[in-house]
Amino acid sequence: MKILITGATGLIGQELTNLLLQEKHTVHYLTTTPFKSHKRQNYFGFHWNPKTGKIDDNCIIGVDVVIHLAGASISQKWTPSYKKELVESRIKSADLLFQLLSKHPNQVKHYISASGTAIYPDSDSAIYDEESNVSDHSFLGDLVEKWENSADQFKLLNIKVSKMRTGIVFSNKKGALKEMIKPIKMFVGSGFGNGKQLQSWIHIKDIARLYYFVIQNQIEGVVNTVAPIPVFNQELTNIIAKRLHRPLFLPNIPKSIMKLILGEMHILLFNNKNVVPKKVLNLGFQFDYPTAELALSNLIK
Ligand SMILES: NC(=O)c1ccc[n+]([C@@H]2O[C@H](COP(=O)([O-])OP(=O)(O)OC[C@H]3O[C@@H](n4cnc5c(N)ncnc54)[C@H](OP(=O)(O)O)[C@@H]3O)[C@@H](O)[C@H]2O)c1
Repeated sequence: MKILITGATGLIGQELTNLLLQEKHTVHYLTTTPFKSHKRQNYFGFHWNPKTGKIDDNCIIGVDVVIHLAGASISQKWTPSYKKELVESRIKSADLLFQLLSKHPNQVKHYISASGTAIYPDSDSAIYDEESNVSDHSFLGDLVEKWENSADQFKLLNIKVSKMRTGIVFSNKKGALKEMIKPIKMFVGSGFGNGKQLQSWIHIKDIARLYYFVIQNQIEGVVNTVAPIPVFNQELTNIIAKRLHRPLFLPNIPKSIMKLILGEMHILLFNNKNVVPKKVLNLGFQFDYPTAELALSNLIK
């Protein structure tokens, strides 16, 4: 199979690309960064710029599946101009892909878009599976809704659409876990708030396998891309400290302080929701890392 990936040079994209190449597929990828564009056996980079609408049309030749991961990082401070960038980097890029597929003959059968669990509102009691018909009206909730709508337009071209509602991806290379580890390693770690926020997460190896499972089984619609067992913030902090052999003696940091430091972005640390990957579990997907304990034993040695 030939698969076109946007954002292939990022955390999830690199892991997924490695898996697809290992499974003998061909990967085309679109990058905004010219120096990241390589061409070697089964791995071909093409340049695009969603801001100016520039795209190398050749990227689509022979492609069966498009995976849209590109988007500006949510871990930078959400100023009004950066909020616009967060939205536009995901939507304008999806629109550019849509225009390309609308205008050029192609054989694409499946469009898979990254998405987020931010679409689900905070709740102490709800259990969110793929049939939960709710949306959170925060900035991120609205962003995810727009992102998913931009994915749904591909159905107009008779292309199957999947929306991968992803929790925090645990990796030791980049991302949220690395940031959580830093203060604990330096003996200044602590939990956030009362530590009872339930957080959805997924191991980097499992997310790559899960995207591949969705490709192979042509799974459509919403896919909760999270491990089956979420983890409380305090439990997560404790597991990291245990793995690093560090004590936790500081009190938890209150929400009000984190709001002062991070602004609106502080909500990422206080999200509390129970999201379950019911669809893929029912279809037989087996997680290698179903619990945070197992995931962190693998990632923090
Ligand atoms: N990691 C997580 O915990 C997590 C959780 C939920 C959802 N997600 C979503 O999953 C997707 C992939 O996540 P990731 O962690 O792999 O992201 P990442 O490491 O930040 O990589 C994203 C890639 O997108 C491209 N990109 C960055 N800014 C861009 C912009 N302004 N316009 C167009 N392209 C841009 C870059 O590729 P080039 O330089 O090659 O263009 C970058 O390598 C993202 O959309 C993210 O929001 C991730």
